[in-house]
Amino acid sequence: MKKLKVGMVGIGRATSYGNVFARHTRTRVTALCDVNSQSLAKSGKEFGLKDSQLFLKYEDLVNSDVDVVVLGTPIPCHAGQVVAALAAGKHVLCEVTAADTLKGCQDIVRAAKKSRARYMLAENCNYMHFAREWKRHIDNGRLGRLHYAEADYVHEIRELVLDKWRANRAPIHYCSHSLGPILFWMDDYIVRATASGSKATIIKDVGIGAIDMQVALFETKKGATIKVLRSSVATRRPAACAYSIYGTKGFLETGRTGYDNIGLRYFEDIDNKNGRQIAVSSSDIDAPKEALLGGHGTSEFYLVQDFLDAIENDTPPPIDYVKGMDMTVPGLIAHEAAMKGGVWLDVPRLI
Ligand SMILES: NC(=O)c1ccc[n+]([C@@H]2O[C@H](COP(=O)([O-])OP(=O)(O)OC[C@H]3O[C@@H](n4cnc5c(N)ncnc54)[C@H](O)[C@@H]3O)[C@@H](O)[C@H]2O)c1
Repeated sequence: MKKLKVGMVGIGRATSYGNVFARHTRTRVTALCDVNSQSLAKSGKEFGLKDSQLFLKYEDLVNSDVDVVVLGTPIPCHAGQVVAALAAGKHVLCEVTAADTLKGCQDIVRAAKKSRARYMLAENCNYMHFAREWKRHIDNGRLGRLHYAEADYVHEIRELVLDKWRANRAPIHYCSHSLGPILFWMDDYIVRATASGSKATIIKDVGIGAIDMQVALFETKKGATIKVLRSSVATRRPAACAYSIYGTKGFLETGRTGYDNIGLRYFEDIDNKNGRQIAVSSSDIDAPKEALLGGHGTSEFYLVQDFLDAIENDTPPPIDYVKGMDMTVPGLIAHEAAMKGGVWLDVPRLI
């Protein structure tokens, strides 16, 4: 099969994925775009690209002969860039979250339905090794019927909130690292949302991105409850990216530091009386060495595999436009609910 030509947009996250695409047997990296000319020249050299393969204007990259566009640009750019790429027939792998407005999400859905090209949201937490392991336990019925889950994503990035687009990203807008794995485990979607948290007292006068903490409650179509705690400024080191999930026959829980830690499990039918400790890892130790090149353990590597399989088999990627919006739209609605004083609001499903 002819190798797919990949264009990366946004140095940082797109080039992290580029490290996987550059060494993959089914792809080669042929283009790079960034609005910052210095970073563009430096990163272009690292990927061995010629000047003619470097683009300051996104339109020029989209109109070049790439087959795949990888978007690692700020969230406010996503909707317009995804729509343009899909309209040009390019497959899109886009960083999280899908978009910063409901309209942006609707535009992406419309464009994805019209295009023959594939869209996948790059929610890497769904590809953490433990998330995939837990999915197997859940699908084997170890937890019984799932009725509750919670996730904390408390990551202090004050300097980024101060001087970048994140000033206008409410903490709960960035909910896909939390909702992504939970909805994957539950095979479900959100129908209602509420939230609390509208004050910024740690960093003042910056924007909604500096709200101290937001906590959202979500109800799913199957009747489960999900709680998500989010902050980009709260005083906590190390960052917490933690999950718990409860079923009628057991529960699973990560530790509360980083992505690799010690968690707990209790499976009523095989564990004795008490729960037991479990290793929580972002990496699959059986994966080939190059699987670590994308970052976040082996997550990006497996995510890229699924994206390329979907393109090759012409099937919907595991996080297609429906699932991508399922883990983005609830956060937009939850923030609205918080600003209205904690009312419950319906969450539209974009299909
Ligand atoms: N999945 C993860 O673990 C993870 C981690 C960090 C960031 N992200 C996501 O990655 C994306 C980028 O975040 P970031 O912190 O790297 O952003 P950033 O502000 O650092 O920007 C990334 C790059 O995009 C370039 N850029 C900005 N506007 C552009 C445009 N219109 N066209 C081309 N290039 C442009 C910037 O010059 C910069 O080099 C966001 O969607 C963010 O949510 C995901």
